[in-house]
Amino acid sequence: MVTLSVNGIEHRFDGDPDMPLLWYLRDELGLTGTKFGCGVAQCGACTIHVDGQPAFSCVTPMSLVNGTKITTIEGLANDGNHPVQVAWRELNVAQCGYCQAGQIMQAAALLAAIPNPSDQDINGTMSANLCRCGTYTRIRAAIKQAAQSQSAGRRAG
Ligand code: FES
Repeated sequence: MVTLSVNGIEHRFDGDPDMPLLWYLRDELGLTGTKFGCGVAQCGACTIHVDGQPAFSCVTPMSLVNGTKITTIEGLANDGNHPVQVAWRELNVAQCGYCQAGQIMQAAALLAAIPNPSDQDINGTMSANLCRCGTYTRIRAAIKQAAQSQSAGRRAG
């Protein structure tokens, strides 16, 4: 039996422990914001957070997430207004959109770890997430904007 929290809701899973977490999220919980891209941890479309750390759900077996807290794009912010999501909308980052949930989850984890990332930090982390539409310039700008709005929020708070 695997027990896990997904976006703050507790779940119990007694199926195949080798099943990828991505299948569980999409097919069993209906959380289809997380995408299947390559299936071999090479593109980042399936990026989610496991206990706050980014992970590729396509290669994460259910057995590895027992007792963890999973966050998907649906649970990143209750109102869809995480600073990364706001910046993404303001800068119109998405093109086709397929990679974007994974990009946003990777970027949110980056900003949680490094509140004011350098270009090198951004490039190093975000290289795990591919965008076939080539939105990389807007992604980097949006991460910087989100970092600024997060630090402004901290000063105001
Ligand atoms: Fe199309 Fe990234 S926006 S793959």
